[in-house]
Amino acid sequence: MRHAVCYVSNADKQLTTSEINELLKFSEENNNQKDIKGILLYSEGNFFQVIEGEKEKIISLWNKIQNDPRHYGIITVIDRDIQKGSYDHYRATVIPEGQKYNPGLPPEYLEPLKGISPDVQGVIKGMLRNFIATRV
Ligand SMILES: Cc1cc2nc3c(=O)[nH]c(=O)nc-3n(C[C@H](O)[C@H](O)[C@H](O)COP(=O)(O)O)c2cc1C
Repeated sequence: MRHAVCYVSNADKQLTTSEINELLKFSEENNNQKDIKGILLYSEGNFFQVIEGEKEKIISLWNKIQNDPRHYGIITVIDRDIQKGSYDHYRATVIPEGQKYNPGLPPEYLEPLKGISPDVQGVIKGMLRNFIATRV
C-alpha cells in the first residue's frame, strides 16, 4: 500500500539559513535512500512538503516530522492511501530558497488546497509563485 502526506508549516524562528539548508539536504538524501518521493519547499519562514511512498515508511517519517521542533503550526492538506504516486517518476529533491525551479504541483495536490483556510492558501500560492517567478 502506498501513502501520501502533504502539509504546510512555519519554520522555527531560531533556524539559521545553513540549518535550513542542512535539513533540506538531509531530507533529500534520506528520502532517496528510502525510495520516498515528493518535494520539500522552504520560503520566507514556511515549509511546504509532499511525501509519497510505501505506507509504513511514510507513516513513520510523518510521525518524526510532526514531532520535529524545527517547525510548528503544521496544517495537514493530505494524509491518505494512494494507488499511484504523482511523483513516482521523480527522484526526491529539495529546492532551497531562491533556487530557480517550477515545482508544477500536480492537480491532485492543488484540488484539496481549495478546502483549507484562505490565509494558508495564500501562503502556499505565494510560495509556489515565488518558485515559478524565479524560473530560468
Ligand atoms: C519541515 C521538515 C521536513 C522534514 N522532511 C524530512 C524528509 O522528507 N525526510 C527525512 O528523512 N527527514 C525529514 N525531516 C527530519 C525528520 O523530522 C527527522 O529529524 C529525520 O528524519 C531524522 O530522524 P532520525 O534521527 O530518527 O532518523 C524533516 C523535518 C522538518 C522540520
